[in-house]
Amino acid sequence: MDLTGKVAIVTGATDGIGAVIARTLTEAGAAVTITGRRTVAGDLPRSVFVGGDLTDRDVRQRIVATTLDTFGRLDILVNNAAVHNRGPVTEQDFDRVVALNYRAAFFLTEAAMPALITSGSGRVINVSTIGTIKSYAGGALYNSSKAALDSLTRSWASEHGHQGVRVNAVNPGLVQDGPMSAPKRAALDIARQVLPSIPAGRLATAADVAAVVTFLAGPGADYLNGVIIPLDGGATA
Ligand SMILES: NC(=O)c1ccc[n+]([C@@H]2O[C@H](COP(=O)([O-])OP(=O)(O)OC[C@H]3O[C@@H](n4cnc5c(N)ncnc54)[C@H](OP(=O)(O)O)[C@@H]3O)[C@@H](O)[C@H]2O)c1
Repeated sequence: MDLTGKVAIVTGATDGIGAVIARTLTEAGAAVTITGRRTVAGDLPRSVFVGGDLTDRDVRQRIVATTLDTFGRLDILVNNAAVHNRGPVTEQDFDRVVALNYRAAFFLTEAAMPALITSGSGRVINVSTIGTIKSYAGGALYNSSKAALDSLTRSWASEHGHQGVRVNAVNPGLVQDGPMSAPKRAALDIARQVLPSIPAGRLATAADVAAVVTFLAGPGADYLNGVIIPLDGGATA
């Protein structure tokens, strides 16, 4: 997959799946803006780091402006940053989860859209969850916030397809090296309770997610638009 000359923003790339996505995109030749609240060393080639809370409008503006100042263009936006709530949902939890998973992704994408249109082959790739397709107890808030993102995937695909922009989503099941699901994985007997329902016989990896994101970012995915891809080893098949 050759992304030489392409420029990407990956949100939530200081850790976990986002960090693997950012590294995989640079290995394919892209330049990448890495974002998150933690400061990272920035040891990837052709990369710049923009720190801050994505729920803050100024941070979102700075991410887009720094990308354009540094690399001169923007072709790929990966909306990966997200948060999962634990336990009973308070109104504060609701606002925190929706503010990042839905609202921040909405407004960052709106801020990035003019540059993605100028690119001529702009791509928005939303990292969602299989929980929007198959629910589980305790996932109501997180899954519904991601369902809003799935809806945006389709809406933006319709709205911006004729402007050369493609908008798609990858919806992973439990990711074995995804920090967000570590508490859930620890509470489960994976071999007995999870793997029997996954025809592929294993959990997803961050590398699986990054491979699909990289494909969606590349020229081979030009005719995919508004698609929600279940990355679940066949669990929902
Ligand atoms: N792990 C799984 O099993 C799994 C399954 C399905 C889907 N997913 C999806 O995959 C994506 C990545 O998951 P993950 O397991 O890698 O999660 P994670 O390790 O918790 O990563 C979340 C990323 O988002 C950043 N972030 C969190 N709050 C932020 C904020 N307010 N402003 C800016 N950045 C913020 C974090 O960086 P800082 O802490 O530096 O801010 C981190 O880089 C998420 O969209 C998740 O919903 C994960």
